[in-house]
Amino acid sequence: MVGYLALIPSAVALLVWSSYRVTRKAGIRFTFGPSLSLQISFDKNKIISHLALHKNRFNTFTASKRTIMSTAKKDYKRITTKSLFDMKANGEKISMLTAYDYTMAKIVDSAGVDVILVGDSASNVMAGHETTLPITLDQMIYHASSVVRGIERALVVVDLPFGSYQSDPKEALRSAIRIMKESGGHAVKLEGGSEIKESIKRILNAGIPVMGHLGLTPQSIYKFGTYTVRAKEDAEAEKLIEDAKLLERIGCFALVLEKIPAALAEKVAKSISIPVIGIGAGGGVDGQVLVLHDMIGMTHEFSPRFLRRYMNLYEDMTKAIGQYVDDVKSQDFPNANEQY
Ligand code: KIV
Repeated sequence: MVGYLALIPSAVALLVWSSYRVTRKAGIRFTFGPSLSLQISFDKNKIISHLALHKNRFNTFTASKRTIMSTAKKDYKRITTKSLFDMKANGEKISMLTAYDYTMAKIVDSAGVDVILVGDSASNVMAGHETTLPITLDQMIYHASSVVRGIERALVVVDLPFGSYQSDPKEALRSAIRIMKESGGHAVKLEGGSEIKESIKRILNAGIPVMGHLGLTPQSIYKFGTYTVRAKEDAEAEKLIEDAKLLERIGCFALVLEKIPAALAEKVAKSISIPVIGIGAGGGVDGQVLVLHDMIGMTHEFSPRFLRRYMNLYEDMTKAIGQYVDDVKSQDFPNANEQY
């Protein structure tokens, strides 16, 4: 007891020495000397502790470790298809983001995202194509294998690209096997309902988990003609509900619903037991997915209503790179400490 009491003056001294201030977000930052701080932020239901070392001329974090004590009801060391099922059963929402390369996947995984989708949106985001149609199976395998090397916890789902599964179930199975063998991904995603039922069954029979995708299915963009909200009419909404039930019945482990009315998406989520993950489908579903480059604001020409931008990296990066150009031109960079 006496030993513990002796610690009190040191603790008080430490607190006095540290500067205590409320940060811009709701939270508190303790600063220990010039280069170490502990930040505790309160973000809605989350407490985020942030241990950081500040030590460069811009006072940015040079090293940091972020631990999220979130609303997660259970601590999953590794996410599996069963974890997602449990999350739905326990009312815990599922977080999903895209990633197409090792470095981004590492960041997304360490931030605690449950599912990483190696989406065929790589065709737009990484390769600059107007649609998702041109990306090939080999290119998807390249992206997926880079992502898999960067993750420790997330479940990695890989899109089967356009043309790799539509013509017949055997081709679909061959494509899915190549993805699983050559990339190390954990599951595949296919766009469509009853039209591709036999292909999905073939893949599932081989033991490969399948995520479905209904609503706006970008691989069919030339059939739809536009990227507007789908299933607003009764007939299309009925077909979507039937397709969702079919995908559950044949054994898909989850379903993405893209750009459909929120009420319809909620109805689907309530009528099937597998998790429903929405993009532009409202909050009544079991989880959310966004394209990473959109949510961090690296892309800026695309602003649909459902998109929440958490950063404006396009602007920040353009400024930083412009500064670098100026520094090189003016010979400010490199300075005496930045050379051998
Ligand atoms: O390819 C992709 O990024 C997707 C998401 C939009 C769900 O399929």
